Amino acid sequence: MKVLGIESTAHTFGVGVVSDEHEDFILADERANYVPEKGGIHPREASRFLAEKAPEVLRRALDSASISLSDVDAIAVALGPGLGPCLRVGATVARALAAFFKKPLVPVNHAVAHIEIGLRITGARDPVIVYLSGGNTAVLAFLKGRYRVFGETLDIALGNLLDTFAREVGLGPPYVVGGFHVVDRCAEKGRRLLELPYVVRGQDVAFSGLLTAALRAYRQGADLEDVCLSLREVAYNSIIEIAARCLTQTKKREVMVVGGVAASPILRAKFETLAKIYGVDMYVVPPKYAVDNGVMIAWTGLLAYKSGIVIDIANAVIRQRWRVDEVDIPWRR
Ligand code: FE2
Repeated sequence: MKVLGIESTAHTFGVGVVSDEHEDFILADERANYVPEKGGIHPREASRFLAEKAPEVLRRALDSASISLSDVDAIAVALGPGLGPCLRVGATVARALAAFFKKPLVPVNHAVAHIEIGLRITGARDPVIVYLSGGNTAVLAFLKGRYRVFGETLDIALGNLLDTFAREVGLGPPYVVGGFHVVDRCAEKGRRLLELPYVVRGQDVAFSGLLTAALRAYRQGADLEDVCLSLREVAYNSIIEIAARCLTQTKKREVMVVGGVAASPILRAKFETLAKIYGVDMYVVPPKYAVDNGVMIAWTGLLAYKSGIVIDIANAVIRQRWRVDEVDIPWRR
């Protein structure tokens, strides 16, 4: 079976083609990334970029898989969560293709897709999942048919915290250089830990107070390197703490880090320490598949389609706030 998947929830238009016929399951993986000239993502500008790139990315994916659209068994699309204008681009392309080529359409939740591609690539079986990206910070585990949220951010996401701080103090964009976030890089020269609010409430974290306090410290004259070091330590350690709580509660024997911020080597080292202390196996999704891509949508679409999940074209509307724990996962026990 071959499935084509379309990703367009934020800054990436990605088209992936996967097959369950070979161990080498990725037949195509094409992407176009929107990089704002300055500031954060502007949803409408990003969506214009995605719409412009969509035909070319789709063409490249079909060429590199050496197939035509009539060869695929189903078309999968990320219907949420994400930015409305961006989601609409992928949904429109997917509905048009499904209608024209008379293919089943499979709805995919973007967060579930990050998890499923992580499991497929790392070989983890039943881990505590730490999902860290620009828009998400959550600790999850599979329980009773769904990926359940054990802890999450109560306000902004980790990626958002780091990018916003970097932008406000003039460290970016770009925010990631050579695999390191600019805040991680700057923190290397930090020597002193400042007192910043460490907020863990139950199993949740909160970062907006930390952002405000870090910016205030910088504006009041603290060394930028010291502020970066302190910000990073507080943010990363609070995530490690809620991951540790989930390991204790669920008694799972693995931990897997997914999402765009998973690439941080500093954070990875902290997770290695956590895994050692708890005696569990640790998996980190490689950067290429930790960021948004079409392959993860295609792969999750394939799993869903084999479980009988399809959606009528007329009902295939976007869901900007589609939570991961609203999705049944019938392909896993
Ligand atoms: Fe993502």
